[in-house]
Amino acid sequence: MQGAIGVFDSGYGGLTILKELVKQLPSYDYMYLGDNARAPYGTRSFDTVYHYTLECVKHLFAKGCPLVILACNTASAKALRNIQQLDLPHIAPDRRVLGVIRPTTEVIGDFSHTGHIGIFATAGTVASESYLVEIEKFFPGTQVFQEACPMWVPLIENNEYDKGGADYFVKKHIDNLLKKSPAIDAVLLGCTHYPLLIQKIRQFLPTHIQIINQAEIVARSLTDYLHRHPEIDERCSKNGNRTFYTTDSTENFDKQSAVFFGQNVKSFHQDLIH
Ligand code: DGL
Repeated sequence: MQGAIGVFDSGYGGLTILKELVKQLPSYDYMYLGDNARAPYGTRSFDTVYHYTLECVKHLFAKGCPLVILACNTASAKALRNIQQLDLPHIAPDRRVLGVIRPTTEVIGDFSHTGHIGIFATAGTVASESYLVEIEKFFPGTQVFQEACPMWVPLIENNEYDKGGADYFVKKHIDNLLKKSPAIDAVLLGCTHYPLLIQKIRQFLPTHIQIINQAEIVARSLTDYLHRHPEIDERCSKNGNRTFYTTDSTENFDKQSAVFFGQNVKSFHQDLIH
């Protein structure tokens, strides 16, 4: 039985990843699930993020997805390892769940000449230290500086990302990060919502600092993964279909998602167990 590639996020952010997946791997079918009813995840505890994420992965499995991408840094940081090691062997040993942090850290060092990299992320991702641990494995000695930006997701989810009020919080966190190291020459937007703020970030970030595009990296990595795993690839259906589910109002989802995904979508509702 073939099925769509599942793409999960706490809300809209994963659509920035899905947009790039569709661009690089257009023939595949994708099924998106946004847990908008319980977003944001970024300030929630490890256990909460793990249980919410697991529930959503199970929904995507129930709809036939052989492979699920956690297109959310917070879920990748706080839930992926448990799901892969504790849950998958029991609930779906033949299916796969992948995250966005590992593929990013495999290449991130290539973007910096100074070896000083900045990461903007949710409080949860920063506290998990996943980026610090993973980057040290692939690029030992690289200096990584993190900055939690708790206001950025609410600004984006509430459609204020391109308004004047966002300037204060964008500048504040850029200044905070650069105070930690003036040698930073590359920054990662380590939250899939943040690309919506890219114009403001570019406005306040010194021009010599490169912004790393996580969506491009994740899509390239998935392409490579599917080549290396033909047994998973052949279970992914390829009819160019895209299906969208939200745990909250479909009306809101359809209205908001175009800015993240770049085109209009028509979503379905997914009930929560809790
Ligand atoms: N988009 C999620 C991420 O990449 C976080 C948004 C949230 O706080 O729910 O981390």
